[in-house]
Amino acid sequence: MKRQLEFSFSDTGAFVAPRECEEIRVLTEAAFDTLTKRTGAGSDYTGWIDWPVDYDKEEFERILAAAERIKSDSEVLVVIGIGGSYLGARAAIEFLRHGFYNNVPAAIRKTPEIYYAGNNISGRYLAELLDVIGERDFSVNVISKSGTTTEPAIAFRVLRDRLEEKYGKAAAAKRIYATTDANKGALKTVADTEGYETFTVPDDVGGRYSVLTAVGLLPIAVSGADVRALVEGAANMRETLLKKDFDKNIAMQYAAVRNILYRKGYNTEIMVNYEPGLHYFNEWWKQLYGESEGKDQKGIFPAAVDFSTDLHSMGQFIQDGYRNLFETVVLVDESTRNMTVPTAADDSDNLNYLAGRTMDAVNKCAAEAVVAAHVDGGVPNMKVCMPAQDEYSLGQAFYFFEFACGISGYLNGVNPFNQEGVEDYKRNMFALLGKPGYEERRAELEKRCDRKK
Ligand code: PA5
Repeated sequence: MKRQLEFSFSDTGAFVAPRECEEIRVLTEAAFDTLTKRTGAGSDYTGWIDWPVDYDKEEFERILAAAERIKSDSEVLVVIGIGGSYLGARAAIEFLRHGFYNNVPAAIRKTPEIYYAGNNISGRYLAELLDVIGERDFSVNVISKSGTTTEPAIAFRVLRDRLEEKYGKAAAAKRIYATTDANKGALKTVADTEGYETFTVPDDVGGRYSVLTAVGLLPIAVSGADVRALVEGAANMRETLLKKDFDKNIAMQYAAVRNILYRKGYNTEIMVNYEPGLHYFNEWWKQLYGESEGKDQKGIFPAAVDFSTDLHSMGQFIQDGYRNLFETVVLVDESTRNMTVPTAADDSDNLNYLAGRTMDAVNKCAAEAVVAAHVDGGVPNMKVCMPAQDEYSLGQAFYFFEFACGISGYLNGVNPFNQEGVEDYKRNMFALLGKPGYEERRAELEKRCDRKK
């Protein structure tokens, strides 16, 4: 049997009394029911709960076939998308594949280089990405559920032009893979007209919960990672978490403890990792929790650090600054690579006390030391331990955090599945850019500027 992802909140003991856990248990059970019986706000977007077992099997095979095609005809894949339409794939690829994926020789990587576009509006970024692609063969996976998001739409226009210049319209179309809504949106219309291969973002799955759909699976499969094992890990975690038993259900416990802390003034949660390959997992988590919970002037602010790197920049604040922080540390038990600290004959750097120890052991020791120091400094700590740096463990972790997020949002009385606040900047941006239909808003903004002058 595969090892299970573990969760512990024992390092919150000085901050959370057992009585408080007992008190929140009933509320957490109610939130669990709201999520799993699909009776809460946003329940139309809970398709991700059963997706790891109910996924579209025919589409899954098409994803694998498309990935093989991209691997055989492209040196580079560009993944175009923003927010939930790229963070999950990037998190998975950076965690599962080589730490210097795009830089190692192709003979080691064995799969196309993968770059991301459409997650910013920087002309410099896009121009430099075109330099990186150069004259090499490339394909594009454009991902947008709505099919109308400005950032990926601009990047797609630029990259599609480049593909059409290079290969001609018909051959370029065979290198464009569109992941979008099954029926609507500008991207769906273009894909149908131009004959791109399309994959579906299910109606009932929002962007930030979509990593295990085609949104994440196609790029992840192109990177050479085993997407079947990823989905299996999620399915395994689903089975565990669908049992409503607070004493054993780690998602209920995580949701409960973070809400107890929040109600006592700990309103910032820092996700901590000790592996550079988890940097984008943190980014994925930040979006998941930030967009799900930050509503109605409420919510735990999700922050993230990479340790031990950030111990030398953020460590002071976490240890001793304003006390509203708690940490959730994600550890990986078995890394795929390791090194031993070498012995030096003269020990001039005084490091021989570490000689012969693995860097992994030193890293774990650092993690333990930091938890103890931060707890002493007034920072409650929780711990999530992924058994291995592999697809199965990552699938478990994705599902664990998604499920806990649903419970946690309901515990705090918000709809964890909408993101209306994201629209506000778009309205202003469209108005200032002169998009038809936004004239009234533009006039309001111009008046505001005049007042400031
Ligand atoms: O989680 C979400 O729904 C959002 O972050 C979206 O993923 C993001 O805004 C991109 O939207 P779209 O896929 O429609 O381009």
